[in-house]
This record gives sequence, C-alpha cells and structure tokens, in this order.
Amino acid sequence: MTAAQSKKTYDLSDVLIDEKAIASRVRELGADIARDYEGRPVILVGILKGCVPFIADLMRAIDLEGLEVDFISVSSYGRSTKSSGVVRILKDLDCDIKGKDVIIVEDIIDSGLTLSYLKEYFEGRNPNSLRICALLDKPSRRKTDIRGDYIGFEVEDKFIVGYGLDMNQRYRHLPFVTWVKEEK
Ligand code: IMP
Ligand code: MG
Repeated sequence: MTAAQSKKTYDLSDVLIDEKAIASRVRELGADIARDYEGRPVILVGILKGCVPFIADLMRAIDLEGLEVDFISVSSYGRSTKSSGVVRILKDLDCDIKGKDVIIVEDIIDSGLTLSYLKEYFEGRNPNSLRICALLDKPSRRKTDIRGDYIGFEVEDKFIVGYGLDMNQRYRHLPFVTWVKEEK
C-alpha cells in the first residue's frame, strides 16, 4: 500500500494539494526559472530537510546546462530566539556562491524569519543575485517583509504536512500535501 492509499490510517485531513497538482505546478516553476536564468550560473540551495521532494522534482524541471545544487541545514535555537529569527547552521554550503545566481529552495514560508536570516547570511558571501523559491506560502503568518520570488501555492494558516513538510519529523514521505487534524 502506498502512503497515498493509506492516508485514512493517519490522523490527517483530506488531501489539500494532490500529486498531480504538485507535479504540474513544479513543472511550471521549473520552466519559469529556466526562462529567467538562461545562460547564467545558477545554484539551487535547498534548506534541509523539508525541501527534499520539492528540490528533487524542481531540479529535473529546470532545463539549464550549468545548474548546480547544494544544501544547507539549519535549526532554530529555540523559543527565545524564534522571534529574533536567529538560526544555527548545522550543515553549511559545500560550494562558494560568490558571483553566482542563487535560488534558495524552501518548503514553506511561514513567519519568514528563517529566510530573512539566511538571506542576510548568503548576501554576506556576495552572490550575483539571490532569490527565493518556496513550494508553499502562508502570508497570513508573516513577521518580516520577506517574499518569495517563485511560489507554488498559497495556503491558509493550518499546520501543513506531506511532500517534505513534517510534524515532529513525520509525514515528510507523503506524496501529497495535507494538514494535521489534531495533534496527538
Ligand atoms: P518560518 O516561520 O518562515 O521561519 O518557517 C520556518 C520553518 O518552519 C519552515 O521552513 C518549515 O520547515 C517550518 N514550518 C512552517 N510552517 C509549517 C507548516 O505548516 N508545516 C510544517 N512545517 C512548517
Ligand atoms: Mg521544517
């Protein structure tokens, strides 16, 4: 049985965005990026771990010869620093982004604090340009002026899981996007 078929055994709501809708939107985002960056040295930087299914599909939808992919892993310091948006770098980039065109690939923009911090962090390394691509956007929760340049879908203020998004590390493997009915 696949995760999609066994959905009803999980404590989740109905499917919010199904596999087909995700695939078709990701292809559009890939085509937009390929068009905008033709002939430029693009690096997709995925923020682990939520980006994994999204970046795997997105990179295959970007028809650019020089495309590179790298990852960074971050964790917030805890509740007190959540409001300040300070994050701890658990795994830094492997490559030098100086002079390159960087696209940060994130699962969801919620408060925007993580991305504000990372944007400043990356800007300190002098890329030629820096943009943000997020599968999901929850604009109602924003606490900073950060905005995504490429957005898959806008979602309501619900706790979303699936296609990379987790609740306590679970549900990342679901091929669709849904939300948690109640926390156990
Ligand atoms: P921020 O509030 O924009 O800094 O969001 C930081 C991170 O919180 C995101 O990259 C996600 O990993 C996680 N997050 C925010 N909203 C959700 C959600 O609805 N479901 C699962 N993870 C979330
Ligand atoms: Mg996360």
